[in-house]
Amino acid sequence: MTSSPISFVASSPVGLPRLVPQQKWRPTKKNIPPTLEQRQLVLRAVRNYVAEFNPVPPQPADELKVHADRIVAQLGCDPIFRDFIGVLLNNEMWREQLAGVPFERRLLLLPKCLRVEAKCPAPFDEFGLLCKQCGLCSIQDLTIEAEKLGYAVLVAEGSAIVMSLIQTGKIEAIVGVSCLSVLERAFPYMEAAAIPGVAVPLLQDDCIDTNVDLDWVWEYIHLTADDRTRRLDLGHLRDEVDFWFTPASLELLLGAAQGETERIARNWLMRAGKRWRPFLTVAAYQALSGQPDAQLPDDLRKIAVAVECFHKASLIHDDIEDNDAQRYGEKTLHEEFGIPVALNVGDLLIGEGYRLIATCKASPEAKAAMLQVAAEGQRELCRGQGAELVWTRQPGVLTPVQVVDIFRQKTAPAFEVALRLGALYAGRHDECDDVLGAYSRALGIAYQIRDDLADLGASGETNDIAGQRPSLLLAIARERASGDARAYLDQLWRREVTPDSPRVEALYRELKADERCEHLLESYKEEAIRSLANLEHPSLKGLLRRVVGKIFNDVEIKGWCKEQEQKNADQRLAQVTHDAVSVSAPATAPVAVPVA
Ligand code: IPE
Ligand code: MG
Repeated sequence: MTSSPISFVASSPVGLPRLVPQQKWRPTKKNIPPTLEQRQLVLRAVRNYVAEFNPVPPQPADELKVHADRIVAQLGCDPIFRDFIGVLLNNEMWREQLAGVPFERRLLLLPKCLRVEAKCPAPFDEFGLLCKQCGLCSIQDLTIEAEKLGYAVLVAEGSAIVMSLIQTGKIEAIVGVSCLSVLERAFPYMEAAAIPGVAVPLLQDDCIDTNVDLDWVWEYIHLTADDRTRRLDLGHLRDEVDFWFTPASLELLLGAAQGETERIARNWLMRAGKRWRPFLTVAAYQALSGQPDAQLPDDLRKIAVAVECFHKASLIHDDIEDNDAQRYGEKTLHEEFGIPVALNVGDLLIGEGYRLIATCKASPEAKAAMLQVAAEGQRELCRGQGAELVWTRQPGVLTPVQVVDIFRQKTAPAFEVALRLGALYAGRHDECDDVLGAYSRALGIAYQIRDDLADLGASGETNDIAGQRPSLLLAIARERASGDARAYLDQLWRREVTPDSPRVEALYRELKADERCEHLLESYKEEAIRSLANLEHPSLKGLLRRVVGKIFNDVEIKGWCKEQEQKNADQRLAQVTHDAVSVSAPATAPVAVPVA
């Protein structure tokens, strides 16, 4: 345990991240579920099925089909997706064996059609495409990452080359990306060789400018038995953390609420929220504790609840500062009880957080470090919030980098505190000190960008367009605009006009500020993943990588408010309608998405 000061990496200044190559959106082939949300749902069903029935690989195609048909029936989805489900099923059956094969004995097989056909400068030789690393497509990133791990990588088609590699005995497992039709042809060979193999299906099979679910490829590439958390069910962990915020659970931890002020604070803590921050604390602890399957220590709850106390206090104060009337589909605390009471409840929650840390069972040194981390985080958050608030006194144009810098200061610290406290409680903070800072910084910025994007098309409760707060969309749009549009956006920045939301949003779309924001969001997500490169600890590395997916791909927000549920339902409806229009074959019924 170190007693030296823990420096908040999140407080160093920002630049924009390296932009990730983007796949040009195309409709999926009709036998692939059309949206990522639906594909994730299928994957989850397949994982549950494999966990329950434990089918043993290798399985010939007709046996696989029997299992796939059962999953089709379970999901109530169109049988046209059976082959897709069969591939995922085969992957999941091999998963544990793949995890046990060292990276140096694995082959990553990528198809050349992932490239941008019209612009790709790469030549071919007898082994396939020789990537020029121009950065236009994902082949470069995947190749570099896999080779760094120790993989052999081939950008080539065909089973012949793969079979000859298998016969050399150097390759003991394959991670492949391929279209369903090629997979179907290659499958019998793989099955006969009984070689652990997972394949991520391409979303199209027309051999040109194809798309793939990159997150899935990344996940399989990194799968390793050294990551002891690889079987940890993050959804389950999150549910457990959620449960800690039920009335009985909180009362057990904090004692009965004394008096009205404490009751209001307790209710606010319980009311709602996604609980990502306490989840991060617990996740970091789990990964570092060395026993991810063991039951969580009761005392860890104190730290997780403290983290949520700090966060919930910051939301109360933020709602007052921003004059927002609604949160979680209900009145904000100051709307309900008035500003003085709300201010005071926020202060109480901060005190509660410090009390919980001070009374946990960690060593005195660990506790001192935890208190220091919490204090540093709070100071940083207030400086970031302050930058925004001071700006409102003399509003002027901000550049995208300046806006991102505010995001970094006001949003990253809560994630950083959460992760550091988990690591400190596990007594392993020194091993991941720098990485946790860099990771939180990218995660926090990405999180806030997503929050900005959520304002689009929403009459939203805390809408930054209507609220005229610094937004990345506005900064990008302003930078791109000219003439009247620029003059109007300048006026908006200076708060000289009341925003006409439809007009502002139309401008954002016209100037493609939304697209740029989405791209930056993806790039910061990837930066968070890249920040893990130097992490020596395989469990923390694997877990934090998956956490990015969990936070950003979990589109389903649990029922914390009726308005959000309605929004989810509307989005699903819009998506289904959109897919029905855009997918060429009208016979494709969307996968039924159960309501949470
Ligand atoms: C709100 O955070 C403040 C932002 C950084 C956008 P969350 O949206 O995570 O709030 P809860 O946890 O669901 O209350
Ligand atoms: Mg605010």
